[in-house]
Amino acid sequence: MLLATACARPLPDPESPGAQVYAAQCGMCHRAYDPGLMTPAMWEIQVSRMDEQRARRGLPPLADGDRRAILDYLRAHAG
Ligand code: HEC
Repeated sequence: MLLATACARPLPDPESPGAQVYAAQCGMCHRAYDPGLMTPAMWEIQVSRMDEQRARRGLPPLADGDRRAILDYLRAHAG
């Protein structure tokens, strides 16, 4: 987990379940971006946009629970 974000700023609240899901699901193609970079509304758009990127790589859409955990986490730490 630490290795995946080693070259970026550490994620806020890194031990939380939301951070773990976020790092795992959103750090596989690029680094898991700092939640403070975007507003909650922007994160919602980005998370939806990433379904397209997942499909392009043959990955299934995010599970509902994961999507919720990721959005809750991003909203809680958004800019
Ligand atoms: C299957 C690979 C993949 C996954 C998984 C993925 N992304 Fe992405 N992401 C990309 C690619 C490729 C781009 C660049 C093209 C684009 O912006 O559509 C990108 C771009 C982005 C950008 C825009 C960066 C910029 O500079 O504008 C954000 C923000 C982002 N992703 C957030 C996320 C979040 C949040 C998740 C988890 C829900 C996620 N990504 C999961 C492939 C992925």
